[in-house]
Amino acid sequence: MAAQVEWERKPKGLDANLKDYETAYRTFRWEDVEREFDWVTTGKVNVVHEAVDRHAASSRKDKVALYYTDLERRDERYTFEDLARLTSRFANVLKRLGVKKGDRIGTFLPRTPELYIAILGINRIGAIPVPLFEAFMEQAIQDRLENSEALACVTTPALKPRIPRRSLPALKCLVLVGDEGPLSSDEVSYEREMASASDRCEPEWLTKDDGLIIHYTSGSTGKSKGALHRQYAMVGHYQTAKWALDLRDDDCFWCTADPGWVTGTSYGIYGPWTLGVSSVVLGGRFDPDRWYQTIQKYRVTMWYSAPTAYRMLMSAGEAIPKQYDLSSLRHICSVGEPLNPEALKWVKKITGLAPHETWWMTETGMQLICNYRSLDFKIGCTGKPFPGTYATVVDDQGREVPPGQLGHLVVKPGWPSMMKEIWNNPSKYQEYFRIPGWYASGDSAFKDDDGYIWYQGRADDVIKTSGERVGPFEVESALVAHPAVAEAGVIGKPDAVRGQIIKAFVALRKGHQPSEPLKKEIAEFVKNNLAAHAAPREIDFVEKIPKTRSGKIMRRVLRAWDLGEPVGDTSTMEE
Ligand code: WTA
Repeated sequence: MAAQVEWERKPKGLDANLKDYETAYRTFRWEDVEREFDWVTTGKVNVVHEAVDRHAASSRKDKVALYYTDLERRDERYTFEDLARLTSRFANVLKRLGVKKGDRIGTFLPRTPELYIAILGINRIGAIPVPLFEAFMEQAIQDRLENSEALACVTTPALKPRIPRRSLPALKCLVLVGDEGPLSSDEVSYEREMASASDRCEPEWLTKDDGLIIHYTSGSTGKSKGALHRQYAMVGHYQTAKWALDLRDDDCFWCTADPGWVTGTSYGIYGPWTLGVSSVVLGGRFDPDRWYQTIQKYRVTMWYSAPTAYRMLMSAGEAIPKQYDLSSLRHICSVGEPLNPEALKWVKKITGLAPHETWWMTETGMQLICNYRSLDFKIGCTGKPFPGTYATVVDDQGREVPPGQLGHLVVKPGWPSMMKEIWNNPSKYQEYFRIPGWYASGDSAFKDDDGYIWYQGRADDVIKTSGERVGPFEVESALVAHPAVAEAGVIGKPDAVRGQIIKAFVALRKGHQPSEPLKKEIAEFVKNNLAAHAAPREIDFVEKIPKTRSGKIMRRVLRAWDLGEPVGDTSTMEE
């Protein structure tokens, strides 16, 4: 291993926000970061004050907070003052609807300025946004709105039919963005309500412990679970955006993630805006030309994206980036799954910059293991723990293992943005602390002699496809809802571009014959009920799904089947 290691060396004296990692790691205190926030002196906490209002009341007032384009119809910019005004209006709209502190409000919107205004408007009155990814279909929406007992949901007429209102008794109202037709009594028009709402709305003053946001994510068992974050998370967002993303006042930052995922809020909203940095949002679909065009158009300086995107750009070839001016870029980071050295080198070839890893999770709320702009790193490694945090590798008992030895990747609890709870599910929350003294990530890793951590994969059955986390149980549940499917088992299958793809093994009900059209139909069914990214790309028909005597699907056996390898010990398998 050691012989193959290649270093990414940094010039001495590089002008990064974090100049000397080792010293910072030794001396860092979160209390010092807290002083950057107004609530330290006022005692009044609300992320909207720190991310918007305080800039709107300062010399940053006319600075652009949000550049938005879909490169077709819309091309807009919003200053911090605009955001203060619009999020106040939206907060007043919600107040009129009777929304109060602590209520959960869904946002089910395409990536448009209204989505950002809605999330911060919800935060302004101390309610809790529940962002729902725009590609979710009915079952995925139902699971999340039902579990969070959301009182209202902000959506569009096009997405509205996917909200199963009859089975969501807690959902009292829809706010429709861009509606044209008549509204029913429990619907209001975003535009009309905004037009008549006041520009002023003092934030609801909260405590550090009050709710910030709920992001639903997947585990290896059960339905998706809601990670609730607290207001105090902003301290972590701020400092990691400063030191890992290396954001500066004059940056133009592009985080390509949708706010339906944690990256799109921690680093699409809270991190850059608590720092007062300008952010770019590109609406619409992924397309290499549009992406390079966006960097060129806004002269993006800092780019934060995911390995699948970098690999898709790579497979689209070098001729495309050559047509664009990418010289504004000065730093690039990556998140979601490991970035393979080949893709890292390709990005470096076309931009001159190597993407820096940032490892973290929905539950951790902020980046925890990273490569830093001023610190030499080894290509392919995940990085070093963020100052003020401790991440390491342990055995089943929680004892740290020697360098080079594989173990559980864990974090010492207590960093600022650690999730507060799993919504409505205390036992799921406890599962993260099953290794005494540690937060267990579910990843496996090793540490090398120089203290670099190397991610080695998930230790459980969670699937990462195109950087998106998918729980096998959710897909299996969607599969067995199809009339031809008796049983289903789902695994992640390694894939060069997507990291993993979803592969399903399906046992058919009596009277149904395996066929290619049936495979397509079943995949389509999952796509239409759950989400396109959760639909299996490969389906194998089998007689029976291998299960333990207690009824647990043996995914290890499915993986062996997939590779055509021996299945190993099957002594626990049912007859
Ligand atoms: C994986 C995304 C390797 C990991 C913010 C983790 C990574 C899971 C990296 C969380 C990285 C994330 N290198 N693996 N830089 N970043 N992961 O909740 O398995 O969607 O446990 O959060 O993604 O996925 P989630």
